[in-house]
Amino acid sequence: MQFIVFAITLALASTTLSKIILLTNDDGWAVTNIRATYYKLKETEHDVYLVAPVSQRTGWGGTYDIPKAPTLDTEGDFSYPKAGAPSWGHEVDDDHIWYFDGSPASCFAFAESYLLPTHFNISDKIDLVVSGPNEGQNVSPSLFTLSGTLGAVYNAVYRDIPAIAFSGPSTNNSFYQDDLDLDDPLDASTIYAIKITEMVTQLFETQGVNERALPIGLGLNVNFPAVGYLNETCTNPRWVRTRLTGDPSVMPGLAYNSTSNLFYFAFQPGGDALRTCQIGDCTLPSEYSIVLSGECATSVSVFSIDYDAPIHLGNEAANLIAPLFEN
Ligand SMILES: *[C@@H]1O[C@H](CO)[C@@H](O)[C@H](O)[C@H]1NC(C)=O
Ligand SMILES: *[C@@H]1O[C@H](CO)[C@@H](O)[C@H](O)[C@H]1NC(C)=O
Ligand SMILES: *[C@@H]1O[C@H](CO)[C@@H](O)[C@H](O)[C@H]1NC(C)=O
Ligand SMILES: *[C@@H]1O[C@H](CO)[C@@H](O)[C@H](O)[C@H]1NC(C)=O
Repeated sequence: MQFIVFAITLALASTTLSKIILLTNDDGWAVTNIRATYYKLKETEHDVYLVAPVSQRTGWGGTYDIPKAPTLDTEGDFSYPKAGAPSWGHEVDDDHIWYFDGSPASCFAFAESYLLPTHFNISDKIDLVVSGPNEGQNVSPSLFTLSGTLGAVYNAVYRDIPAIAFSGPSTNNSFYQDDLDLDDPLDASTIYAIKITEMVTQLFETQGVNERALPIGLGLNVNFPAVGYLNETCTNPRWVRTRLTGDPSVMPGLAYNSTSNLFYFAFQPGGDALRTCQIGDCTLPSEYSIVLSGECATSVSVFSIDYDAPIHLGNEAANLIAPLFEN
């Protein structure tokens, strides 16, 4: 009897504690960063699904890009898979690793509304969406909206799913079949994977039997520093709380090339809007200041998808058109 009670308790505990994690990114399903994170997350007891674009979708923000045909017209990045393959599919030896010919936001939708319920018969809500780690940092609200990594994350938050975006400074786009090395303690992908797993484990530990890992409407934006081979003095960065806005600021811009008579992408400083604190904890440093400091530190910003203005500013703006509301 005692044994039966014990066994039931164990079974209950493990169903409560085993979480469904959806892992995505914008650099594509075959890059080293996301594969390293997948394997490290799998070392926990959680049920991890990797569903990511078949090719690079950086800078796509929350765009919904949906396959136009059931097969691929062009090959995936690193020729993986080849043109003519199905527009969505999984690794031959692991049906938890999927590509989809879409953007990060639509990969999330594909996983949530099609793949998990139909292919895996999962009707439970996803417990956490993890996006990244991105090849390149995502700091300030201007990159928040531009970033495909974050596009998946804010779409998950819209659907009441706790979600975290992770980014790192290396833009080196590498194929997992060439570079994945989970045993190399100086490999940046491995270090990020370990740190991501540390944060995810902490979140679920704190969550316990509560329904959600993060409050509704909120998500996290996390930026790692250069680690391992990128900076050998930094292998275990500490976590630092930050905010999205603040000095300095950066935003997308364009520059003109008179030789080609074309424009190219070039960052530019943001305006006061990106420096001014209007909501949230104004004593926190901006995430970009931590990234630029070169410290062995990871910025962690908490964002809200309640885009409404704080009350006094909202009223100030609405008052400017007050006569329109009078009848
Ligand atoms: C799908 O899951 C439900 C419970 O959530 C179960 O009743 C049903 O038998 C499952 N279907 C298949 C095909 O496994
Ligand atoms: C990119 O990564 C590959 C594999 O790790 C490495 O051989 C190459 O030197 C890296 N390139 C840069 C510019 O860091
Ligand atoms: C490498 O990290 C250390 C802290 O661990 C920092 O002081 C140093 O500035 C970093 N170097 C570079 C090139 O970013
Ligand atoms: C400008 O265009 C020329 C010709 O296409 C190209 O060779 C050069 O690299 C471009 N310069 C920049 C800064 O993009």
